[in-house]
Amino acid sequence: MALMADAFVAARAADPMVPRVARIAERKREIEDVVTLAIEGGAFDFAPGQFNMLTAFGVGEAAISVSGDPANGARLIHTIRAVGAVSRALAELRPGEPIGLRGPFGRGWPLLEAEGHDVVVLAGGLGLAPLRPALYRLLAEREKYGRIVLLFGARSPQDILFRDELEAWRGRLDLEVEATVDHARGDWRGNVGVVTTLIARASFDPARTLAMLCGPEIMMRFVANALHDMGVAEERIHLSMERNMKCAIGWCGHCQFGPVFVCRDGPVFPYSQLRGLIAKKEI
Ligand SMILES: Cc1cc2nc3c(=O)[nH]c(=O)nc-3n(C[C@H](O)[C@H](O)[C@H](O)COP(=O)(O)OP(=O)(O)OC[C@H]3O[C@@H](n4cnc5c(N)ncnc54)[C@H](O)[C@@H]3O)c2cc1C
Ligand code: FES
Repeated sequence: MALMADAFVAARAADPMVPRVARIAERKREIEDVVTLAIEGGAFDFAPGQFNMLTAFGVGEAAISVSGDPANGARLIHTIRAVGAVSRALAELRPGEPIGLRGPFGRGWPLLEAEGHDVVVLAGGLGLAPLRPALYRLLAEREKYGRIVLLFGARSPQDILFRDELEAWRGRLDLEVEATVDHARGDWRGNVGVVTTLIARASFDPARTLAMLCGPEIMMRFVANALHDMGVAEERIHLSMERNMKCAIGWCGHCQFGPVFVCRDGPVFPYSQLRGLIAKKEI
């Protein structure tokens, strides 16, 4: 009987549709509608750019990228913007409360392919969250890459995520960090304007650059085109896509984007694969 029960538990654990239960260890408010949750309850292994399906029990499930350091498997970090029922319930969770978790899923950032290249990491708003694990890895293995440039755009200075970390990174001599905001009042001394304006000023060699972009689709389209016009190969411009998800394992078709499933084939895609699709509003 005990053997049967063990087998049942093992089968459930292996089922990618069954969430495991973990606990909130820490909750940090980043900006007004965004919180970062640290989750404990096992060892967490993931590749930068992958996502988990998080369950707020009694409310529902949403796809959320991992935003923490891949070198720290003891705590799983997710950064969540409260936009609807599920994300609001997840963002409300307090230390000690349970959370459901399936994953990690998807194809992440091409860090192996980036070796030997200049790397441009470009984020708009919450797009910095899925890119942060890639930055941790790039900096941990700094000697493997050429120049590393982080370009970041936010709506206003108050909307800048991970401020302390950005400040610390800005102080490094082996990383170029530039930020811009759409609107600024008061004591902001930095750039004002769209994130594409930062590209021309950044120091990287387009012919040997790999770019990783995450943010609103329209921003990624403009940035990808600007990088391509400068000479960055379309195959080396990588974008992380968001689509509504249900199963997250290629079964339901909910996340279909033209001929691809974002959950299974992405969420990170080379621009060469998406160029014809991302321009179409109805997809
Ligand atoms: C691969 C992947 C990774 C993701 N990573 C993250 C992440 O790290 N952090 C995070 O907060 N979200 C992330 N998302 C987005 C998240 O899954 C959605 O926001 C999700 O739909 C939220 O569920 P909900 O029930 O709260 O809102 P819904 O009921 O689905 O949406 C409520 C309203 O908010 C709008 N909305 C949905 N998503 C967004 C958005 N991202 N920004 C602004 N408005 C939106 C909808 O159009 C709708 O009007 C990711 C999505 C994918 C596919
Ligand atoms: S979410 Fe079901 S196929 Fe992608």
